[in-house]
Amino acid sequence: MTMDATRQRFLMCRPTYFAVDYAINPWMDPTAPVDADLAIRQWERLRQTYVDLGHEVELIDPVAGLPDMVFAANGGTVIDGKAMAVQFRDPQRADEAPAYRAWFEAAGFEMHDPKHVNEGEGDVLLAGDHLLAGTGFRTAHASHAQLQEVFGYPVITMQLVDPRFYHLDTALTVLDERTVAYLPEAFSPGSRAVLRRLFPDAIHATMADAEVLGLNAVSDGRHVVLPAQATDLAAKLRDRGYETIGIDLSELRKAGGGPKCCTLRLRQGKAVK
Ligand code: ARG
Repeated sequence: MTMDATRQRFLMCRPTYFAVDYAINPWMDPTAPVDADLAIRQWERLRQTYVDLGHEVELIDPVAGLPDMVFAANGGTVIDGKAMAVQFRDPQRADEAPAYRAWFEAAGFEMHDPKHVNEGEGDVLLAGDHLLAGTGFRTAHASHAQLQEVFGYPVITMQLVDPRFYHLDTALTVLDERTVAYLPEAFSPGSRAVLRRLFPDAIHATMADAEVLGLNAVSDGRHVVLPAQATDLAAKLRDRGYETIGIDLSELRKAGGGPKCCTLRLRQGKAVK
């Protein structure tokens, strides 16, 4: 089987003001120490990895006082040249939304504003011709209908049930147009059945992999960048022919984020690509 890498365009935000000052998910403990300089070095390594793979990395300026802004996946959903801005569940992250929105607008994307809580690509993943949309913790179910109207892809609701896997991108990763990897226990029985129906050949991750945020991975169809600690998942991926690149993001994990959370995919219109 030949695996083709597709050149990606990503948006990232340097963790200049990264900290764990509040707790809005079970990973965050504001009393535990965080090495902010190490966080920046680990993030820099991730950025360089993308550049070395030939991907294009755009940067948005970090804003002081917004410690979670490094998690660019939550800044929007960008497909076919259209960008849907976000509305955060938690007030601590609310001011990130206009900053990302302004970036998309300046970059020339067709803008759409959210009518309900929607945390962007953290909960909205394009898998082939389906948009998988998470709900249960952050993104409101009501926003799934808007996603379908804006982007014109069939939206499949994924019900998340484990608070540690509060965003869809902590429980499922899209590997290519046809393949995903996921943690079955993170989904409701009905959502599991839907995943089995849509992706009979999916890779099932173990709880041990998910607990190091192993599913918070970024694939270009050939190379999969994932947390270095997710060794079982990496072995399964290599068995399927993917090349795995382990990255240590231990400091950002203290906020509940991994490689995918730091990475927003910018998808141009098909013609422009
Ligand atoms: N501390 C952030 C939050 O709880 C982490 C966001 C992680 N992003 C993601 N796409 N899963 O909102």
